[in-house]
Amino acid sequence: MKKINFSSEAIIYDDVSELSKEDQEIIKEANIAKGKSYAPYSQFNVGAAILLENGVIIHGSNQESAAYPSGMCAERVAVWKAGSEYPNVKILKLAIVASSKTTVVDKPVGPCGACRQTLLDYEVNQKAPFEVIFMGEVGKIIKTESLVSLLPFSFDSSYL
Ligand code: THU
Repeated sequence: MKKINFSSEAIIYDDVSELSKEDQEIIKEANIAKGKSYAPYSQFNVGAAILLENGVIIHGSNQESAAYPSGMCAERVAVWKAGSEYPNVKILKLAIVASSKTTVVDKPVGPCGACRQTLLDYEVNQKAPFEVIFMGEVGKIIKTESLVSLLPFSFDSSYL
């Protein structure tokens, strides 16, 4: 028997102005994406923006359905759009922003478990980590250097 420690690193910022210009730009794009969110049922609007290695920026936003489980998170909309429009182009960064029509989102909104698993495939396939930046409407901003740091002991294609 052996006990191991594992750790993930994240940088916590107090204000967007502390991030690089490139990071601020991708956050701005995520906010534009959030404006295209369709979330009449949860009233919770999420925007995601992906910066690709070729300079293209992809927007995704959550899209809901009256048949609730049929909706989709902003992150998966964005990464599937990137994967289908630009296969084999590396993802450099993903920014996620969220706000609610019923409350003030004052905590950084990280990708849900299903999104982390979905995003991981793209990171593993491109053999290079990509940064994930996430935030709420107010409060701290979190940046991680890779997707795998958000999903330790994850399942990937190496098992298949
Ligand atoms: N949602 C996202 O788009 N991304 C997340 O990381 C968390 C949740 C969406 C799904 C649903 O439309 C709404 O937020 C409330 O869960």
